[in-house]
Amino acid sequence: MNKAIFEVLEKLEKQSSLEKSRQVNVSSDERMLAITKETGELLNMLIRLKNAKNMLEVGMSVGYSTIWCAEAIIENNGKIITIEQNAKKIQRAKENFQNANVSEHIAIQEGLAMQILQELSLNEDYKVFFDFVLIDADKENVIEYFDMILPMVSVGGVIVTDNMLYPEKYRESMKEYSSHIQAIQNVRTITSPIGNGEEITIKLR
Ligand SMILES: C[S@@+](CC[C@H](N)C(=O)[O-])C[C@H]1O[C@@H](n2cnc3c(N)ncnc32)[C@H](O)[C@@H]1O
Repeated sequence: MNKAIFEVLEKLEKQSSLEKSRQVNVSSDERMLAITKETGELLNMLIRLKNAKNMLEVGMSVGYSTIWCAEAIIENNGKIITIEQNAKKIQRAKENFQNANVSEHIAIQEGLAMQILQELSLNEDYKVFFDFVLIDADKENVIEYFDMILPMVSVGGVIVTDNMLYPEKYRESMKEYSSHIQAIQNVRTITSPIGNGEEITIKLR
């Protein structure tokens, strides 16, 4: 991993750890709420295994997960479209992307995920386009997000969803989410205990 990316990830890991252990007082809308390092490594590895080029992320925050993915996507000459609604976090993400030298591979879509996903799904260019997706925004709409995203995923494409097991307050609704996916014919899915629990779904046809 190159030095610039490593240093930004390391800085964000320290910040995330301080926030999780409540050693710093950060208002709820400014918290990173990032994936774990282990999940970052998993995403990076899956992108490499798949040779994924076109990635969609729902829920960027300050860009920790995006940078983990960008590190692999760049090697595949790919690009990431990432969605975030919080303007302050977008500003911090832009700085992090610049410091990590990954900005040119990332297009930020600012606004509400539901609206942006609707726009993307109406665009013919994005039909069966994405080969790797991370869903990590609000949990209330996660089933709708999945259903909107699936037609935009190519055959063999992978969708990873964070927070399947933790925090516990999401556990019941994420179980429903997993059951929803299991009932869909053209996908195969597993819930992995890595990090905060990752649903890993592959589109079969
Ligand atoms: C769990 S955090 C994402 C963490 C990020 N994936 C990481 O690991 O670094 C969820 C993010 O989704 C954003 N978000 C929540 N609901 C959203 C919505 N409806 N539309 C767009 N962004 C949303 C929040 O502002 C927050 O930054």
